Amino acid sequence: MRVLTVIGARPQFVKAAAVSRAMAASHLDELIVHTGQHYDESMSAAFFDELAIPPPSHHLAVGSGGHGEQTGLMMQRLEQVVLAECPDCILVYGDTNSTLAGALVAAKLHIPLAHVEAGLRSFDRTMPEEINRVVTDHVSDHLYCPSAVAEANLRAEGVTRGVHVVGDVMFDVLLRESSLLGNGNPVAQATSCADGAYVLVTIHRPGNTDERDRLEQIQDALDRLASEGLQVIWPVHPRTSRLVRPPRSSGVHMVAPASYRETLALLRGARAVVTDSGGLQKEAYWMATPCVTVRPSTEWTETIDSGWNVLVGANADQIVSTTLAARPGIGGRQAYGDGASAARIVELVGALTTERA
Ligand code: UD1
Repeated sequence: MRVLTVIGARPQFVKAAAVSRAMAASHLDELIVHTGQHYDESMSAAFFDELAIPPPSHHLAVGSGGHGEQTGLMMQRLEQVVLAECPDCILVYGDTNSTLAGALVAAKLHIPLAHVEAGLRSFDRTMPEEINRVVTDHVSDHLYCPSAVAEANLRAEGVTRGVHVVGDVMFDVLLRESSLLGNGNPVAQATSCADGAYVLVTIHRPGNTDERDRLEQIQDALDRLASEGLQVIWPVHPRTSRLVRPPRSSGVHMVAPASYRETLALLRGARAVVTDSGGLQKEAYWMATPCVTVRPSTEWTETIDSGWNVLVGANADQIVSTTLAARPGIGGRQAYGDGASAARIVELVGALTTERA
């Protein structure tokens, strides 16, 4: 059985690391297509190398662009690959434009579509990712949910066929990679930050970066945290790096995007995380690091309910006070399965027939 996997953005490389490893150990034949949505070495090749992801069979080299341009170009090029390779199933991950392109091509060509990380909802349709999630789930034949909440979200939209709760593949990757992690924390050492004395920051959502006032509020908050005696380590996404001003405090360290293992080490040593990333909210939860999420909503509601994550607006006062008050949650941290999700997904994909429902 031939599975064609479509990936293209940093968080998808992490998720594919677990499933592709399990796929390689199975009877399934996987072809990886890289859309080229992320192309900088630090955003793409570094993840393939560090996480030992098999090299892509096809690279669509789409690059950056507006949503229509980027998604349209991916569809156009992917369609040619799918027609040539005749896969039995197309596998997509998460909620990026690469996910949407893969989903629409599969649906239009009547190829069974499997979606990893199905059923997530922030209920905020101003986020491009929310549109990508809803559309992808509604054209998917097989939907692999990370949690019972995700399954309930699908049920509420009338999607019940082909739905399986399998846990979160990002937990599989985190367990494996954290067991391989040494004691070092290279980025913290390079910036002379001691464990427990810094806050890890990542900001890349258009909602936070593209309005000057909101980004200024966030940067002001980071400068103020540094003046309160905390150091700030901020690996800056390329989208954000074009929009930020230099920090006013020497305690704010803006650094290059971190690799997966560097990020885990940073998370382990951080007093708290300030982020607008989806993946980092969960990684903080699993690593027992309190998280402050600069967004009005989150699709990872279990991290909030357990007290490990707090939502704040792009408001300097709120970010500073919530970060200074951040404490470990009281709830458990088992909402997203047991770290054996990839094996379940591969078993389910292997059981797929080529017949569409
Ligand atoms: C995308 C996803 C987002 C995900 C994020 C992870 C969509 C709609 N968004 O957002 O859900 O959380 O990836 O990082 O799919 N750029 C570079 N080099 C790169 C990649 C991007 O310089 O390798 C710059 C370009 O200026 C580009 C901008 O970053 O225009 C945004 O990249 P894009 O892939 O459109 O969205 P992300 O913000 O990365």
